[in-house]
Amino acid sequence: MNEFENLLLDINSTGILFLTINRPDKMNALNSTTIEEIRTAIQRVYDDSTIRGVVITGAGDKAFIAGADIAELAELNEVNGRKFSEQGQEVFALIENCHKPVIAAVNGFALGGGCELAMACHMRIASQNARFGQPEVNLGIIPGYGGTQRLTQLVGKGKALELIMTGDMLGAEEAKTLGLVNHVVPSREALMEKCLELMNKIIAKGPLAIGMVVDCVNAAYDPKQDGYQVEANSFGSCCRTGDFKEGTRAFLEKRKAKFSGN
Ligand code: COA
Repeated sequence: MNEFENLLLDINSTGILFLTINRPDKMNALNSTTIEEIRTAIQRVYDDSTIRGVVITGAGDKAFIAGADIAELAELNEVNGRKFSEQGQEVFALIENCHKPVIAAVNGFALGGGCELAMACHMRIASQNARFGQPEVNLGIIPGYGGTQRLTQLVGKGKALELIMTGDMLGAEEAKTLGLVNHVVPSREALMEKCLELMNKIIAKGPLAIGMVVDCVNAAYDPKQDGYQVEANSFGSCCRTGDFKEGTRAFLEKRKAKFSGN
């Protein structure tokens, strides 16, 4: 499975894919090759029914991802700069809209595009040494991979403006207090354990329902959609699934449900 230049892919026996951004000598900075490889890997998650969830992390013990590759950024002009931003936005939207759970295991610096990638995941678990920030203004630019939008959604307008305007970094505990992080754990080992615990809990539920949860919650932040209508439609769709029949029947028969994803 490891045909990528900058990603390591490893799938466990329950179908959880561990996707590791692997440029530790560059703090796992996202160059265009890496962004395209992430697109390919996430597309595979959509297409491959044996994959049931994804944990994204960074190689090494210093960084999750320290942002877009600044050497590449430095070459951008107005035209390809817009394309660069749209390309990253597209790939991160694939993550955000994935019907299988995607968890960021943040094991160090999550800066710029790294923080943006973590925010596109459904949840963020951080080790004690994680540091979050959108330091783009230090380079005379702004976040371009969805950071101005998702940070605002997660922490609110005032704090998002402060963080993006100052470029200040947040520690793991502060990020948790602000709602940017779901859980903080003491070490890298504990990080993977916590991600697995959450994943195992989620993949035991009805997979079609989990996918619809993603659509409905994302609709809450999409001005083009009526979130309540998306919810009602999705609820209706759930009611015609075998998983719904199995889930309700299992409850009434006092046994554990066996969901098939149909
Ligand atoms: N793009 C390209 N290379 C990067 C990078 C990035 N975003 N972040 C780190 N690197 C490279 C460094 O250039 C260095 O490479 P070198 O060894 O070939 O010189 C290597 O990774 C190690 O980084 P270094 O800065 O020496 O480590 P540090 O521990 O002193 O500092 C950071 C770590 C993350 C604080 C620092 O690297 C940093 O500020 N990175 C940029 C963060 C950023 O602005 N991201 C937003 C981009 S839009």
